[in-house]
Amino acid sequence: MAELLIYNAGQIFTAAGGPRRGAALAEKTVAPGDALLARDGVIVGVGPRRTVEKLSGADCEALDCGGRLVTPGLVDCHTHLIYAGSRADEYERRLGGASYLEIFEAGGGIHATVRHTRAASEDDLLASARRRAGVFLSHGTTTAEIKSGYGLTTADELKMLRVAARLRDEGPLRVVPTFLGAHALPPEYADRRDDFVTLVADEMVPAVTAEGLAEYADVFCDRGAFNVNETRAILAAARDAGLKLRLHADEFEPLGGTELAVEMGAATVDHLAVVTGAGIRALAGSDTVAVLLPGTTIFLGSSRFAPARALIDAGAIVAVASDHNPGSCHAASLRTILTPAATYLKMTPAEMLHAATINAAYSLGRADEIGSLEPGKAADVAVFDAADVSELFYDWGPTNSWATVARGVVIRRG
Ligand code: NIG
Ligand code: FE
Repeated sequence: MAELLIYNAGQIFTAAGGPRRGAALAEKTVAPGDALLARDGVIVGVGPRRTVEKLSGADCEALDCGGRLVTPGLVDCHTHLIYAGSRADEYERRLGGASYLEIFEAGGGIHATVRHTRAASEDDLLASARRRAGVFLSHGTTTAEIKSGYGLTTADELKMLRVAARLRDEGPLRVVPTFLGAHALPPEYADRRDDFVTLVADEMVPAVTAEGLAEYADVFCDRGAFNVNETRAILAAARDAGLKLRLHADEFEPLGGTELAVEMGAATVDHLAVVTGAGIRALAGSDTVAVLLPGTTIFLGSSRFAPARALIDAGAIVAVASDHNPGSCHAASLRTILTPAATYLKMTPAEMLHAATINAAYSLGRADEIGSLEPGKAADVAVFDAADVSELFYDWGPTNSWATVARGVVIRRG
């Protein structure tokens, strides 16, 4: 039996009690006590050290937090972590006034990353993804959803998802794979949109599910990408094949994707920078999680942030994720984004931390396993060099964790 005692915490923010909406999102879920005991990767007790220690056997590893903040490992429920190549050149062009959509429509953007990713080997993609996963872990992220979507052929989408499976199997980052075959219309299908939609629905989806390579399917439903009818066809095929659904929608133009996703019982709708009142009402009346990606709004130099306050006040389940990708948000980690995110979205530290832990875990169908510090949950824990949650958000860097614990094992220690 492997035991780990985490003690001398300044504050333990547990995020306990399941996914949160409305006023409950802002409650400070702080444990009475300074200690947590894990056995074989599972939390067995949270509370005062004296009480928690009694649950322990003789041989127990100890982590003295020195008065620092202990939180659940962050859950990043929207990333594009696997890709090849750099788009630094495009970033500079955007700084000079070019827009993301202009660059995309001229054959750059996602298309540029697709060219690099198609040319890369599985081993090379794994090596770069592993480096990024290491950065995530060193910033307190212990779970990441990872999308395909830079292959856009059956073989290259499968290649990306096999890389995600290898990354998941080697750990310690938990990986949740999502098939995003409809990320962009590849140039070879420029005059044959319907054929590409058919390819995704009738060939890629069965190929992905035959190998069990994804839990979720996603579509980029927006101007310049896929319309609502195309999105419906792909999501329906994915759902019928047993995949759960997520959706990129309302980033640039509200096409009705949010309402469609809610109607289809999707787990999430992501971006929502330009969501309409009808979209907000649909989300609020559903269990579909609104995933906000403020790092993308910042990195694109836009001022249209998702209306976090309206979504929270209406009662939607709100999560926050990094959207890490080579084009629209080349950020080191979710933690790096949380402080400016709080500033722009006007969310309190407790709201933001629940959004990046338990609500994000719920969006991945894992609210019973990760996302909070409670007995029976996985011992995925971040320790930050801050006295409490207010101090954590007040610190805009360095944003690394002081310690990260994954599955009960200390994988980084300050
Ligand atoms: O979520 N919006 C679509 N997809 C990504 C961007 C991908 C890219 O630019 O490479 C996003 O922002
Ligand atoms: Fe994305």
